[in-house]
Formats: sequence, C-alpha cells, structure tokens
Amino acid sequence: AATLERVEQALDNDRLPVEIFNDEAVFKAEMDQIFGTCWVFLAHESEIPKAGDFVQRRIGVDPVIVTRDGKGEVNVLSNYCRHRGTQVCQTDAGNSRFFKCPYHGWTYSNDGDLVGTPNKHGAYAENLDPKEWGLYRAPRVDSRFGFIFASLAAEGPTLDEYLGGAGWMLQMMVGLHPDGMRVAGPPERYKLKANWKTGSENFAGDTYHVGTLHYSNEEIGIAPDLKSNVEVTRSYDFGNGHYTIGFPFVELAGPFAAFWGYDPETAAKFDLSGLDETQRHMVENEPPIVGTIFPNLSFLRSPVPVRIGEMEMAVVTTFRQWQPVGPGEMELWNWQFVWTFQDEQQALDAYVAGQFTFGSAGTFEVDDTVAWEGAPKAAKSPWMRRQEMEFSFGQAHMSPVNREADPTYKGPGIKRPTGFGEHNQISFYRHWVNTLRHGTQATSVQEG
Ligand code: FES
Repeated sequence: AATLERVEQALDNDRLPVEIFNDEAVFKAEMDQIFGTCWVFLAHESEIPKAGDFVQRRIGVDPVIVTRDGKGEVNVLSNYCRHRGTQVCQTDAGNSRFFKCPYHGWTYSNDGDLVGTPNKHGAYAENLDPKEWGLYRAPRVDSRFGFIFASLAAEGPTLDEYLGGAGWMLQMMVGLHPDGMRVAGPPERYKLKANWKTGSENFAGDTYHVGTLHYSNEEIGIAPDLKSNVEVTRSYDFGNGHYTIGFPFVELAGPFAAFWGYDPETAAKFDLSGLDETQRHMVENEPPIVGTIFPNLSFLRSPVPVRIGEMEMAVVTTFRQWQPVGPGEMELWNWQFVWTFQDEQQALDAYVAGQFTFGSAGTFEVDDTVAWEGAPKAAKSPWMRRQEMEFSFGQAHMSPVNREADPTYKGPGIKRPTGFGEHNQISFYRHWVNTLRHGTQATSVQEG
C-alpha cells in the first residue's frame, strides 16, 4: 500500500518510482489484481480452427491450454494436473482429444473433464468422483473479431464492457473484410530482462523514442522521416487502460496513401460498410498505427509498406503480448497477422516484412529490447531504486490545446490533437495503479 501511495503521489507530478519495474511485492500484486481480474488475450481463433486443436498459453504466470472441443466450443483450461500439479500438456500446440498427465497418467478430455485414472478400481474404490477433479476452467471466456480472451474473475465487466473503445479500434484494424485477419504462423517467443509494463507503455503511445532510438531505420531506408512524422500523430485514450496512436499519412503523402499504404488491389477488397463515420474517416486518413489493450496486448501496423532501399516489402501487422515472467523479466510473444483473403505469397511477404522489423532480430525490435532492459536494473540499484522517472514530455512544454480533448471527435474515449507526448503513458500507469487497488472495473471515461 505504501508503494501504491508513492506511485499515486509521483504520478500527480508526472513521475513514477523506479522500483516498480523490479519489485517482488508489486509483481505479486499485479498477478493477483491485474492478471487475476482483467480480460487477458490468449489466442486468435485462426490458431485453433479445427475440433481438437489446442495451443498452450498464459494468463499472467499461469499456464493454460486453449482448446477447441468436439462441439466446436473454445475452452480455457488450467494446465496444472489436479493430482500433484504437473503440467498435463507439455507442447506448445497440436490436436488432441485428451491430455494425459505424464506423472501418474490422469487423463483429461479437451473440455477439461477427468476421464481416466490408471488403477482406478484397485486403488480408489468409489472414493474418487471424477466430476470433482477435472482441470480448472477459466470462469469466463469470450472473443471479439477472433481474438480470444479469458478472465479468471467469475464476475466483473463483460468482454465488450471491458474493451469499450478498444473493441471499436479492433474493428478498424481487423474488421475491414468479412473474413477478417488470421495469424501467419505461431507466435515467436523470446525472453527479455525487461518489465512487462514497459512494452505496454511503449505501444500505448511512446512516439518520443522513435526519432532517436529507431533513427538507424531511417538512415538505412527502411522507414522514412521518422523524426518529423511522429510529431504529427494523434492520440486516443479509450479509458480502461486502452490506447492508440493515429497517423495522418494522407496529410503527408496524399490520398493514394490511404489504408495504411496497402496496395490498391488489396484496399479495393476492404468493406467499410460496417464502420461508423469516425472509423471510416480514421482508416482513410489517420488510422491507428500502434496501441495497447490493457494489460499486456499491443499491436502495430506500419503506416507504409516496409522497404529495404528501393524494394517494397509489405504492410506489417503485428500483435504482441508482453508476458510477465518475473518482476524484471518478460517473454515477448509476437504474432504476424495477414488478411484471410491474402494468398500464401502475400502472407509470406507480410510475415517476412514483419519479422524483418518486429521479430526477435527485427530492425526496430532490437532497438527497443536493449533500451528496455535498463529499468529493471535501475530498480535494483541501491542508488537509483528510490528515485523517480520523468513523464512530463509533451505535458508542460506544449500548448494547452494539445493536452485537451478534441471537441470535434465523435468516437469513444478521448482524442488529443497530438500523440507527441507522454499523456497516454501517464494514463496507463494511473489505470495500472487503480487496478492494483480495486481489480478491473469497466470505465468508459478517462481516469483522473
Ligand atoms: Fe498428474 Fe499425478 S500429477 S497424475
């Protein structure tokens, strides 16, 4: 509680205590109050299209198996055997009707029921009621645009209430065609000695770092005009810890650059009839390019096709999850997404462009991951850990109009006329500390 009070006081001055990036007590509270109550992304439906398909995922530090059972239903099952806690599923993905625990052989169906116990009759007599000993199921599972989420809280906001404006944003990202998007292969995974919040915070709206940390990408011709482009971004705060940054590339590159720079043939397939007027304006003029859905799902769609010198590759859509491993460590899970209607060559092009920039050796990714490993070290430093970090960029130095909501905006949440500031990050940490105190609550307005 003392730490939370310190955080709140620091946030009032656009600061944040260094120690929250590597602290056992904070991490434990995050697992209970944030990952134990929020809707957490697990998988995309295109990863488990057939009956029996499964993937192994996580809710915070808890391993879960996401299955599609014989009835076509999605189940989210705890991957701990009820007998002694061994992980019953030891592979990342596959297709199976059953999961047999490697320790003593208890066997569970892919909807979680206990269906087999070796030597049952000789050893248990009638004492073991299999109905009581199935795998624990996440109390609530739901999906939106194919994105499967689960909540470990039996009660609380529905997924739609939880996502609020972030669902509206997702519709722009993946709902431009009736068949939607699909994953282009399994997620790439790699460990970083960085705190999970740093990824979420960065993708919520850290436009400030782009011109410095990623400048080498401009120098070698992968992305144009990084430094000046970030200054014209817009920012959106949907409340509930969800954010995006819009990029007005039509202003910069003219109308032929609409739809994130997709080629005309691809763009012609898009169907905007399901979008409202504000969404249509955004996808045609200033679409979302990065964003975060609280707590740990983020995305990026490149505002132009990635290029190497003169060679144009493809528009990149990456969804990524900052999986907490420990107070100062996370695992980055990185999916490349493609339109379901795209053929295999187009999908491969998008995958390669995605991995080239946002993969474990990607030109942007390696910049970020090295920079992010500083905070957990500082948080353990006897000198630094009692100090504070600075979050006032764009708040004190810019004209008030840039800090206030755009009154002409008709969509959910708040739009600010500039994304070139740290207001989304401050809002993210306010939401983080509120959730640590109270668990998740659907809020449609920005927290004060
Ligand atoms: Fe799974 Fe014993 S721990 S069967």
